[in-house]
Amino acid sequence: MNSGLKSAQVSEPLSLCVVGAGYVGLTAAACLAQLGHFVYCLEADSEKVSLLSQGEIPIYEPGLKELVEANLANQRLKFTCDPSQAIENATVGLLCVGTPPRFDGDPDLSQLSQAGRTLVQSSDHDLILVVKSTVPPGSCEALELIFQDTAEDRIRVNVCSNPEFLRESHAVWDFFNPDRIVLGVDEPSLVALDRLYPSDWPIIKTDRRSAELVKYASNAFLAIKISFANELADLCSKVGANAEVVLAGVGADQRIGSQFLKPGPGYGGSCLPKDISGFIAVGEAVNLDLQVASAARKVNTQRSEDIAQRIETVLGGLSNKKIALLGLSFKGGTDDTRYSPAIGLAEVLVEAGAEVVAYDPLANIFGKPIPFFRVESPYVAVEDADGLVIATDWEEFGKLDYQYIAKLMRGYDVFDLVSKTDSIKLGEAGLNLYGLGKGFSIESHSLLWTSLLWAM
Ligand code: UGA
Repeated sequence: MNSGLKSAQVSEPLSLCVVGAGYVGLTAAACLAQLGHFVYCLEADSEKVSLLSQGEIPIYEPGLKELVEANLANQRLKFTCDPSQAIENATVGLLCVGTPPRFDGDPDLSQLSQAGRTLVQSSDHDLILVVKSTVPPGSCEALELIFQDTAEDRIRVNVCSNPEFLRESHAVWDFFNPDRIVLGVDEPSLVALDRLYPSDWPIIKTDRRSAELVKYASNAFLAIKISFANELADLCSKVGANAEVVLAGVGADQRIGSQFLKPGPGYGGSCLPKDISGFIAVGEAVNLDLQVASAARKVNTQRSEDIAQRIETVLGGLSNKKIALLGLSFKGGTDDTRYSPAIGLAEVLVEAGAEVVAYDPLANIFGKPIPFFRVESPYVAVEDADGLVIATDWEEFGKLDYQYIAKLMRGYDVFDLVSKTDSIKLGEAGLNLYGLGKGFSIESHSLLWTSLLWAM
């Protein structure tokens, strides 16, 4: 699945230290090693380090295992828990640790400052620390003060910004096919950073605050696009238009673009919900009410309730109804369930009295308690179900045997929130398909005709 650009190489490899072996850090470490750099990945969890050192990957990310194995074998990638070993030869450290949201929407930067201070304390040479985690503008400057304070006059520490734009489930492909690499550097003498990526890649070099804000603004804009698509799909339902066609028509305008205009159960994952809140918090910090972003967030927050209400209307209530739910991860192609809209919807349905039985091919619940049942087959999930909800866009959900599913279900209603099924196929099986922007009841509004009345 990965493009031939995986053969891209840097001309002057560096010794690097990547801190954190989560989704971002592990991908960055393996891909930077693949570019030719010598990478030590520093991770606090010793069990993880020992697994990774044997080529075992704790997350599901297509193409990543092969890259880790290849670069372990050629010794360009190593894992360790020991900061001194990780930083011994590296002049550049990449900080890839979490910046989870605090209660007020601001990101918690404590893991970042801890990671950087550990490197500074363990290093006997000057360091350039590159922040890949998503942070509000001004963070790199603040972190530099903290790190320089930790270093006293022993070594010099510069902090730069290089935000990550990789999507989970496409991270390796995205790394080798970047739309842009953003480097935020305020100190022109830091030439080592010019050697981080191949020089013919699309690099935008700018100041640190601008680089930091590119990341927030990109994720906020993606979230706004999705919320717009979701609202438009609802409008289509009300006026009897087909959302799929309308959104394809809108997206065909190159100024708008067709990506991230797919209606669904709302955006989830560890990034978009967190970053739109972070973006709004940045505005609040400077007394600016970012209304467009706030509205997009509100649309998303209400999504599960709105969808549950529509399901309730079609099924004539939710109390004691059995609902089969296909999909638990926050999108297809990943095992990640953080801020998953599918789980959010399941919780609302259970709260309203339904019994939910879920199936997902890969979702990792991370031992979190869930108020519903999880089974190992979609066909077990649908047994005696009054309704079937498809909430994650796994390819396999479009290829299920719906004739068989119709026989197993008690009811006939399928709520496909991710446009994976075919209405003709479902109709032939005797099932009713309710998609977003089509199928739910049409409520023509009298206002639509007022202009005609005026013309008569
Ligand atoms: C997102 C961004 O796309 C990446 O560029 C960024 O690097 C990453 O966050 C991050 O900040 O680390 P990711 O969280 O992996 O990537 O997921 P997306 O593919 O953006 O999807 C986010 C959510 O939006 C999912 O719940 C997905 O189902 C939903 N979505 C996406 C829609 O509902 N409609 C669409 O048209 C597209």
